[in-house]
Amino acid sequence: MNTTNPTISLRGGGAALIVELAEPRPRVLHWGADLGGLGGADLAALATSASPSATHNSTDEPRDLTIVPTEADAWSGTPAIEGVIRDGSPYARFVLESHRADETAGELDITLRDGRTGLAVTVGYRLNRFGVLDVTTAIANESSADALYDLAAVTALLPLPDRATEYLDFTGKWSRERSPQRGTIDQGTRLRESRRGRSSLDSPYLLFAGTSGFDFRSGEVWAVHAGWSGNQRYLVEQLPEGAGAFRSVLGAGELLLPGEVTLRAGDEYRSPVVSFLWSADGLDGIAGALHKTLRARDMHPRSPRPLTLNTWEAVYFDHDLATLEQLVDAASRVGVERIVLDDGWFTGRRNDTNGLGDWTVDAEVWPDGLWPLVNAVREKGMQFGLWFEPEMVNLGSRLAQEHPDWILAPSDGVGAAIRHQYVLNLAHPDAWEHILGRIDALVAEYGIDYIKWDHNRELHEAALRNDRDRAGVHEQTLALYRMLDELKLRHPRLEIESCASGGGRVDLGILARTDRVWASDCNDPVERQNIQRWTAQLIPLELIGSHVGAEESHTTHRVTALSFRLATALFGHAGIETDLTRLSREELDTVTAFAALYKELRPLLHSGDLVRGDLADQQSVLTGVVSADRSEAVYSWARLGTSAPVQSGRVRLPGLDPDRGYRIRVRDEIGRTSLHENAPAWLVQAAGGGFAVGGRVLTDVGLPLPTLDAQQAMLFQLTAL
Ligand code: GLA
Repeated sequence: MNTTNPTISLRGGGAALIVELAEPRPRVLHWGADLGGLGGADLAALATSASPSATHNSTDEPRDLTIVPTEADAWSGTPAIEGVIRDGSPYARFVLESHRADETAGELDITLRDGRTGLAVTVGYRLNRFGVLDVTTAIANESSADALYDLAAVTALLPLPDRATEYLDFTGKWSRERSPQRGTIDQGTRLRESRRGRSSLDSPYLLFAGTSGFDFRSGEVWAVHAGWSGNQRYLVEQLPEGAGAFRSVLGAGELLLPGEVTLRAGDEYRSPVVSFLWSADGLDGIAGALHKTLRARDMHPRSPRPLTLNTWEAVYFDHDLATLEQLVDAASRVGVERIVLDDGWFTGRRNDTNGLGDWTVDAEVWPDGLWPLVNAVREKGMQFGLWFEPEMVNLGSRLAQEHPDWILAPSDGVGAAIRHQYVLNLAHPDAWEHILGRIDALVAEYGIDYIKWDHNRELHEAALRNDRDRAGVHEQTLALYRMLDELKLRHPRLEIESCASGGGRVDLGILARTDRVWASDCNDPVERQNIQRWTAQLIPLELIGSHVGAEESHTTHRVTALSFRLATALFGHAGIETDLTRLSREELDTVTAFAALYKELRPLLHSGDLVRGDLADQQSVLTGVVSADRSEAVYSWARLGTSAPVQSGRVRLPGLDPDRGYRIRVRDEIGRTSLHENAPAWLVQAAGGGFAVGGRVLTDVGLPLPTLDAQQAMLFQLTAL
């Protein structure tokens, strides 16, 4: 390639992307650390050094990795774009046509065209001031003939250097979302797909590549996330010949089903936003950039996140006004600010086999509508929220009986039920109008403040009955987004929670139009510590619903101490998911103290930097939030189970200012933590008037943290002296 091509440098948040506008196809010269403002000679040298050697039994010229690698580049890896002209060629050769760049704003759009097919591709790069690089790909069929282009896959790909040797991604299941899995990046493709029509309980979530042993606080890390709530795929791939001068590629995109997207002349496909991040400071660096980006959005919730009581694990389907009024009363007394009436309120919904689709208040259970409950909630100055599962239907519902053509399933019969239910085709204009109309009417009638928006069936055989049974996950996802956007437009103060069998729909696509996620149906703090700390890898604590459950967990049947459950629920958008009317006077006092502590600490918890300790002992979890000016911090020191070491040794508290002193206080109003050994001397002081210590001791040397009994947590609050 010619080395005097123009180059575009996007720089922000310590990261940079440098693209050479080479012909026929541009290529990425660098993605990673900000290299400073490189001069022309340096950029030319960077371009020259970006071409590898030509090797034996390979192409005569060196193989470069372009911004849209395909076979036209002799690229034998996963192509950026796959598709075929109907009855014709799958081989498109895109050639640079034009670009638009604003380096100051961190923006670059590059348009390429294939003369034979008339396809135009525009790759957009946006690097924000926190270092998040958003990549979108648009493909337009601009052919003059009536050619149809069947699009198979669009994957945003960026190169990784040799030193990115390990990957980390996530899997999960009901009640155990976001379980990390790690390994080495070897030759071949590590491909993770979600074919469940939602980002899913086993969502890859974020795929990381990093230097050996990268951790929360250390290592160089590259990451990718697909901001999409439908089918999707993530990959890290390494070929023997590498990727241009790089070793591997990292990528993600929407997973398209056969025939799902066909571009007629004049049509365009726009990919979801795929976010790429780089950090020299391990996983916390990536989380920090994402959290700052989300917090900077106009729509980010800015009012204090109300302490919530959700009725599900208190009463399940057993809706009885007198019982619920007692619950509301108890909630108000402990300091709850929002009541959410969960599943069971609508027509025919006495259990999980019926009712979905009939979104009217059940006249038998609620003869006076929801008014008596809504009034009781409002009289106590609390907000009112309601559960919906708008995309779902039970076959016995009136809606399914009257509109079988609205069901998202093959015309000759539905497939496997999940939780006795099926999916409604929201891309059907009449179905969309009907469902939106029902939700809109109820929100307007009761002045609903909050919707818990659930989604419990995977989208298998998502056939569009009104369109030849074509695959419809793509259109369903867009229709859902349109519905959420329309509801927000009609009710600007309405907040929406994304729930899907727990944390099955947590992604930046849904979060562009919702206000928090339900992290998991598992409220067992032993499990929840891990679920929350990894959910927070993508999104900040104020967006993560985290509730204190019953003494005996309804999903694991583990029995845990109230103080451990409360300390765990504190690190999120906190709430209560248990029958408060069954608690003792003493327990209610503790929950009341918790409510006050949450209200006191939430300005810090919901604005500060998340820090997570790297500990040798896998049974210990250190999580902290440090204010932006590093004058305040709160840490949770938790122990999930027993482990071999007798003592923790000195543990460093990450994120503090080494040049300031701090006073440490123990916050034990939510119950004393049970210690396995005696308290170390500093802790005795901290538990009294407070322990004053220099920042460098905390950040560089560390404190011998107390050895907790299994399934315990302790809270430390730090204030700069
Ligand atoms: C799903 C949700 C739960 C609850 C139930 C109600 O499982 O994840 O939180 O709302 O549905 O049926």
